[in-house]
Amino acid sequence: MAKSTLSPPVFFYLLLLLSFDSGILLKLANGQGKTWCVAKPSAGDAALASNIESACKYLGTRGLNCTKIQQGGACYDPNTLINHASFVMNTYYQDNRGQEHACYFTNSGLITVSDPSYGSCQYA
Ligand SMILES: *[C@@H]1O[C@H](CO)[C@@H](O)[C@H](O)[C@H]1NC(C)=O
Repeated sequence: MAKSTLSPPVFFYLLLLLSFDSGILLKLANGQGKTWCVAKPSAGDAALASNIESACKYLGTRGLNCTKIQQGGACYDPNTLINHASFVMNTYYQDNRGQEHACYFTNSGLITVSDPSYGSCQYA
């Protein structure tokens, strides 16, 4: 009698679950699954500086570091807070297996499906 495999309530429940994690929706839309985290262009300097400090502190505890955004590092240029913050925020995000909450940064992080790498500055 019932031919559909998913009854409507189950389908809507799944949709609801998915809609809570826009990172999952981005991954589905992307097809390849990989996403990156960057700083929102609207983020203020104080937030960016704070993100750099906290991400670098965390990375130090993970055997990683922020040398790539320091002078002489591959991601130093352009020498802007948003560039430096984006790079280390993404390193933090990837170290946390791309979980959506790891790109929140008090609403100053943005998950993207395009690889932000440029030149010799390779994002994880
Ligand atoms: C920073 O990390 C890189 C890669 O993990 C490593 O090769 C390098 O030696 C580290 N540098 C410092 C100063 O710890």
